[in-house]
Amino acid sequence: MLANEMRALLDESDDPISNLANAAALLMDALPDINWVGFYLRKGGALCLGPFQGRVACTRIPMGRGVCGRAAQEDRVLRVADVHAFPGHIACDSASNSELVVPLHGASGLVAGVLDIDSPVLDRFSAADEAGVSSIARIIESRIDWNGMGKA
Ligand code: SME
Repeated sequence: MLANEMRALLDESDDPISNLANAAALLMDALPDINWVGFYLRKGGALCLGPFQGRVACTRIPMGRGVCGRAAQEDRVLRVADVHAFPGHIACDSASNSELVVPLHGASGLVAGVLDIDSPVLDRFSAADEAGVSSIARIIESRIDWNGMGKA
């Protein structure tokens, strides 16, 4: 159901910022027990803060750093049950205890950014959540004009 809502929502606009902003808002509404959801967008060797819902967050994460930078560099989903046990975790909101980060790809197949979801609940994200959010990420990445995002 969320997948259908996301498709319909993102088909309303072809502006990447508008679509990522609405995607973050829909996810914040739909997912229980989360305190931050949003996007980091790859600009060269770093991830820059994109549209999000939640408290103010760090604006630039070098590739490889923190949960987001590691997921982007290694191009793999990171589902972290306890962020305080993750070496190099970047604490933006001290309320966050678990995190799910899913890489997003441009048409070339390269990592264009990540979808990051934080929860105040330890071990909030199950394998089923990971699968569901990953399929939502595929819907988002295929509907974003990554080239219209500004210079990488
Ligand atoms: N905790 C993240 C940083 C981003 S905030 O959670 C919004 C990390 O370690 O990459």
